[in-house]
Amino acid sequence: MTKDRIKTLQAMEILDSRGNPTVAVCLELEDGTQVISRVPSGASTGAHEAVELRDNDSDRFGGKGVLRAVNNINEVIAPVLTGQPVADQVAMDRRLLELDGDPRKARLGANAVLAVSQAVLRAAARVHGQSLYRYIGGVNASLLPVPLLNVLNGGAHADNNVDIQEFMLVPVGAATFREALRMAQESYQALKKILQEKKLRTAVGDEGGFAPDLQSNRAALDLLIEAMERSGHKPGQDMMVALDVAATEIKRDAGYIFEGAVKTGPELIDFYHRLIRDYPIISIEDGLAEDDWENWQLLTERLGDQIQLVGDDIFVTNTVRIQKGIEEVCSNAVLIKLNQIGTVSETLQAIRLTQQAGWNAIVSHRSGETEDTTIADLAVAVNGGQIKTGAPARGERIAKYNRLLMIEQTDPSLEYAGWEAFHR
Ligand code: PGA
Ligand code: ZN
Repeated sequence: MTKDRIKTLQAMEILDSRGNPTVAVCLELEDGTQVISRVPSGASTGAHEAVELRDNDSDRFGGKGVLRAVNNINEVIAPVLTGQPVADQVAMDRRLLELDGDPRKARLGANAVLAVSQAVLRAAARVHGQSLYRYIGGVNASLLPVPLLNVLNGGAHADNNVDIQEFMLVPVGAATFREALRMAQESYQALKKILQEKKLRTAVGDEGGFAPDLQSNRAALDLLIEAMERSGHKPGQDMMVALDVAATEIKRDAGYIFEGAVKTGPELIDFYHRLIRDYPIISIEDGLAEDDWENWQLLTERLGDQIQLVGDDIFVTNTVRIQKGIEEVCSNAVLIKLNQIGTVSETLQAIRLTQQAGWNAIVSHRSGETEDTTIADLAVAVNGGQIKTGAPARGERIAKYNRLLMIEQTDPSLEYAGWEAFHR
């Protein structure tokens, strides 16, 4: 069959949700099928991530242009992939890796490589006449993910006294995804009202969360609990809380800068211990920095049987680092971001490795996003059970939630993961 061969592959520079340039690809097959793929961009990026290629030409977009990545697609990748069938994702991705040749994809850029890899995936699903999640997951795809909604921000994302970067609502007690999203939206709106009453700021950050001027981390948690109660959702029963500390951002040579003092890893772990005793916290992401393996191990030893411990910067969706984490028992879950590693098949490999260890794989957005909804399908396809894609606000976040609503509506064979997602 020739209709699944690539006829044209055309890249262009578009803007992401922060207004920064990013890469889009239009792929057309011989049979006329057309798909578009767009890549996201992080702000608190891990040092071990694949390389996002930017122009560094200060005359355009403050140096953030991506014309080099775009040209790499149009001039290096397209000539090689044109005429090739899209059905074999692994073979296509292998060609992309060979073309780049750098372990961190620094030559062509992970943004260029992922845009193409994702376009190939989308095109192949269309050739098979299947929805994206069904094409990736086959008959095995059966779970709608519990959303982890970032509604309150601190850390580098806000100029307040809150060190923790993200406070997330986890509507785990819902019966359906639709209910879960409604519950979270109601608590998010209640939170906004509470902030207004307290004369606190309600402007939202990059992921749609509020960043009010608060006195402490605990003050932020108290607000979340109040918002749940005010909207009629029981903390600890209907809804839980998840945190992303993004500890790499607060790590200095002397230790972790936390609550106005320099803290050691073990002191931070003590803090988390007290926090999960006092609040209905179900998950903590990046509680320690990206290379602090020793304390990650201690954290897992101390809290790993009580809550989910998610590694983002430490693993960067990289199988070598995840394997090390599994062997050394650092954390019990992995955050999955396609652009941290750069191809679809390497991402699927990372998910497989994670799940084989009995760990959770949580598909995630980046702080800079587009209207692309691939991650919604990916979360369903791999039975990840959870998705992290921002507040119930801002079009680029809502696009993912709307895609999940649509998937749930049209496929009654899928079940909402609920509490199951957290019982490994
Ligand atoms: P990023 O942050 O997309 O800006 O890297 C999100 C996260 O830390 O999970
Ligand atoms: Zn993170």
